[in-house]
Amino acid sequence: MRTPSYSASPPPFPATRLRRLRRTAWSRALVAESRLAPTDLVQPFFVLDGHGRREPVASLPGVERLSIDLLIPQVERCARLGIPMVALFPCTPAERKTLDGREAWNPENLVCRAIRTLVREVPEVGIMGDVALDPYTTTGQDGIVENGVILNDETIEALVRQALCLAEAGCQVVAPSDMMDGRVGAIRKALDAAGFGQTIILAYAAKYASAFYGPFREAVGSAAALGKADKKTYQMDPANALEALREVALDIAEGADMVMVKPGLPYLDVIARVKEAFQMPTLAYHVSGEYAMVKAAAERGWLDGPACMMECLLAFKRAGADAIVSYAALEVAEALARQR
Ligand code: PBG
Repeated sequence: MRTPSYSASPPPFPATRLRRLRRTAWSRALVAESRLAPTDLVQPFFVLDGHGRREPVASLPGVERLSIDLLIPQVERCARLGIPMVALFPCTPAERKTLDGREAWNPENLVCRAIRTLVREVPEVGIMGDVALDPYTTTGQDGIVENGVILNDETIEALVRQALCLAEAGCQVVAPSDMMDGRVGAIRKALDAAGFGQTIILAYAAKYASAFYGPFREAVGSAAALGKADKKTYQMDPANALEALREVALDIAEGADMVMVKPGLPYLDVIARVKEAFQMPTLAYHVSGEYAMVKAAAERGWLDGPACMMECLLAFKRAGADAIVSYAALEVAEALARQR
């Protein structure tokens, strides 16, 4: 979206007819301003402990929690379709959750085992690991809680341990999704000091306190822990866009390699402004609730599911996103492969 450096006025109707270029499929393809390719997509997976286990997620039709052995063929599918990266979210057994979330930096935890396996089995696909304590805390909060307050600086120390643990397991992209102030800088410093100078930081820079995360929390099992509590003291207020630019500016200054806006579709204005303002690699997270809405309507025959999903993901590209994390990544990549 650049302002033209010249101005030219096309002649008025009837000499100008914008429908001329829309008349045929080939001319529409020729002048399309945005395109969606499998290389724009990131597929998230929910990882289960054990062997040979798969469980559907009720609120995310088409999404299953998978044990590591069953995850391998799915990540191989991503590789074949050209999806460059996957995101892993562990379903931590309840008995491993604590108030401080210490399982997050256990090198033998579920996500670290999954990372080691995938790096060995499907090395051509990048792995993005979430840095936040919510899969591991009994409170379901992303940070350490004391007297009802989510402690910022104490949480950063935990996040640094978690990020180092992920990097040691072979995770190439660590993605702090916790929204503590100052965590990107602390993680960069610790990674560099530990010899992980090549580990990429993808900052969930503008992450909103959104009700659209509902199905995700169900999928990883943090919903019950969280109960009626919310994350409004650290995730952003949906009313704010200028604050998102401040968040992104800080994360870039602290060393983020890529930034993310989350959720996606309700925040396309934020994506467009972030891309325009910073010209950084900018990702968008098409979150669980957004995916669930399309699937639910399609199940009722109210929407054409595949067409709507494709349109949603293309909208992210039009808004300026470089890549999109979406539960629909695999199915959309398959549809794109069929189109060619
Ligand atoms: C955890 C995390 C969340 C999501 C990604 N990482 C949930 C939350 O912040 O409560 C949401 C993803 C989705 O809804 O698809 N920090």
